[in-house]
Amino acid sequence: MARKIIIDTDPGQDDAVAILLALASPQELDILGVVAVAGNVGLAQNARNALKVVELSGRDDVRVFAGCPRPMMRELVTAEHVHGQSGLDGPDLPEPEIALQQQHGVDFIIETLRSEPEKTVTLCALGPLTNLAMALVKAPDIASRIEEIVLMGGAYFEVGNITPAAEFNIYVDPEAAQTVFQCGAPITMMPLDVTHQMLGTPDRIAAFAALGNRSGMAVAAMLGFSERFDLKKYGGPGAPLHDPCVIAYLLAPQIFEGKTCNVEIETGSALTRGMTVTDYWHVTDRAPNANFIRSGDSDAFFALIAERIARLP
Ligand code: RIB
Ligand code: CA
Repeated sequence: MARKIIIDTDPGQDDAVAILLALASPQELDILGVVAVAGNVGLAQNARNALKVVELSGRDDVRVFAGCPRPMMRELVTAEHVHGQSGLDGPDLPEPEIALQQQHGVDFIIETLRSEPEKTVTLCALGPLTNLAMALVKAPDIASRIEEIVLMGGAYFEVGNITPAAEFNIYVDPEAAQTVFQCGAPITMMPLDVTHQMLGTPDRIAAFAALGNRSGMAVAAMLGFSERFDLKKYGGPGAPLHDPCVIAYLLAPQIFEGKTCNVEIETGSALTRGMTVTDYWHVTDRAPNANFIRSGDSDAFFALIAERIARLP
């Protein structure tokens, strides 16, 4: 029985690879919907990019929704400097023919969680947590109905990427992250601690281009674009590939290792806004609320992605 998931996303090249990985895995994952959120670039562009990625995969059966255009309390911070003006620079993907659903993405999340049997839907969050938090505020009853929230966000031992203290997804909407981490649903988080081990080296990117299909070529072009910023920033053999860790965890949890601990979100300080304060060594009596994934097998990770992308057109 395929696992029912909703993907909440701000595509972003790495989001796009994560979405393609899920779209290529219908035996294991039943994608109930893809919901765009403001983050890497503005909402309208992220939604358009999500449509392009779904269309690239040939999976026109998958519905795409637009969610919130800005964080709950703060001005939107975007990342064109990493992802390009379109948010999905690199491949030249055609204008999408499929259209957005009319329903607001937050209402889609609420309606789906209320209509599906409880604890049978997993929320996969690849961007700022605004949509998930707004759904929880509007419909608190859904918290107990969520099977699991698997999210890319946060950092602890690896420190921040948008400030010295914070990772981008949490930094953009720290109040939303606080709402999600306090909601009581099971949470598995993929912080920079693990995503920075998943480096897209030249050989790994070349393997996507060598697949010979349009999806492989598009993935190679996406990563070939988005790596520029990180290679300059971090040096090293390749740029981190963040969001596909969420989907890879659903497909092959055995390639990751983590530890359940308490994670709180800094929302008061300007200096440490969005920091995921992780009680990794249990030095407080704060209740554990997240499975903090700290490591993974990068060879297995990239092999999985390549094997699945090969299945697409
Ligand atoms: O910090 C990495 C995260 O920020 C990823 O989700 C990437 O897509 C950007 O949104
Ligand atoms: Ca993202």
